[in-house]
Amino acid sequence: AHLSFDSSALKKFVHDNELGEMQAMVNAADSQLRNGTGAGADFRDWLHLPSEYDQEEFARIKAAAKKIQADSDFLVTIGIGGSYLGARMAIDFLHNSFYQAQTPEARKAPFVVFAGNSLSSSYLQDLITLIGDHDFSINVISKSGTTTEPSIAFRVFHELLVKKYGEEAANQRIYATTDRARGALKTEADANGWETFVIPDGVGGRYSVLTAVGLLPIAASGADIDQLMAGAAEAEKAYVDPDLSKNEAYQYAAYRNILYRKGYTTELLENYEPNMAMFAEWWKQLAGESEGKDQKGIYPSSANFTTDLHSLGQYIQEGLRNLMETVVKLDTPNHDLDVPGAANDLDGLGYLEGKSIDWVNTQAYKAVVAAHNAGGVPVMTVHIDEENEYTLGYMIYFFEVAMGISGYLNGINPFNQPGVEAYKTNMFGLLGKPGFEEVGDQLRAEMDD
Ligand code: PA5
Repeated sequence: AHLSFDSSALKKFVHDNELGEMQAMVNAADSQLRNGTGAGADFRDWLHLPSEYDQEEFARIKAAAKKIQADSDFLVTIGIGGSYLGARMAIDFLHNSFYQAQTPEARKAPFVVFAGNSLSSSYLQDLITLIGDHDFSINVISKSGTTTEPSIAFRVFHELLVKKYGEEAANQRIYATTDRARGALKTEADANGWETFVIPDGVGGRYSVLTAVGLLPIAASGADIDQLMAGAAEAEKAYVDPDLSKNEAYQYAAYRNILYRKGYTTELLENYEPNMAMFAEWWKQLAGESEGKDQKGIYPSSANFTTDLHSLGQYIQEGLRNLMETVVKLDTPNHDLDVPGAANDLDGLGYLEGKSIDWVNTQAYKAVVAAHNAGGVPVMTVHIDEENEYTLGYMIYFFEVAMGISGYLNGINPFNQPGVEAYKTNMFGLLGKPGFEEVGDQLRAEMDD
């Protein structure tokens, strides 16, 4: 299997009968998810994306990626949240750790850079400086078409593009990924003749990595999106049976809810590969936006090992006992190296001479599971075989379907995100956006008090 879920380290925390006793609730959650009888039913189209995606658009994505590879040294990918994290994590996961430091020749693809995911002016200026005189294109991604951060970044890079190439040629270098029909970005794209790609109505931002949102930047980076979709399609088939003894994605959903109800309210997603750090950021949005609502939900956090064993490790071992861990453990690295020999043994490492560094990494993982387990932290592991497109597609689907089931198990709508609006209303008030004047006046008055 490309992915397997291992709950064997939970014995101390979950009795043998407990998983089976979740089966009836899991059946109900499965029916809500599959039959659309649960809250948020309009946002389940990601369930069948791997087997039912738009083939015509998929071909256009591949053609656009080829064109970008031929005419651009940089692809400025503009988006935030669900319109950012999927592409970012996939590109990190699928490439050399120093992908960005490689020459375009070595990379055989443009450097995919990201903008519009913060409001830092220094970041934007640094990116402008990095691009310098190089050729570039823009992929602007926003479902609503009105999100402040990407809209500002797009203005900046659009202006730069027009200055460099002139209006007409610039229009050939802009790819807009947005709603099929609505929104400011769609209107602008149609008016200027930009190539557009669709974020389907029934797919929320955090479930959109296998649409053009993720696929265009991932393809432009040189990764194989056919394999990505093939892996996801295999997972789509693998996780249809709600029987907990057979469905590992559902097992994961059930166990994290069992643990949550025992007071393990924070889950750390962990890895032993630095290029998976962004995978955890993607997962944090998937989990946090899906489940953190109605004043409940597991708080999703992350740690990168063995790095963070030297920082967060103390807390995980001995701090407040509300933590559970889910490790994504890579079984076969892309490269392995042996610990070199030395003429003398002054560093005391002679006992590891000739051992593979990945073997050392795996012993560290085993040692950490045992230590954290003894310290009172339940640990689950998702084993993946390789860092390639097929496995990534498979794993994306595993976590997506698990989060849908998990949300329903906890009695919430896993597919809305009402809480992300509160700060925006305040910000629009303070910024003086038309229609928000009163909010602004009120906030300013409160702040002066
Ligand atoms: O999941 C969400 O709704 C958010 O994270 C959005 O993806 C994010 O705010 C970007 O929204 P949009 O694509 O409309 O610009």
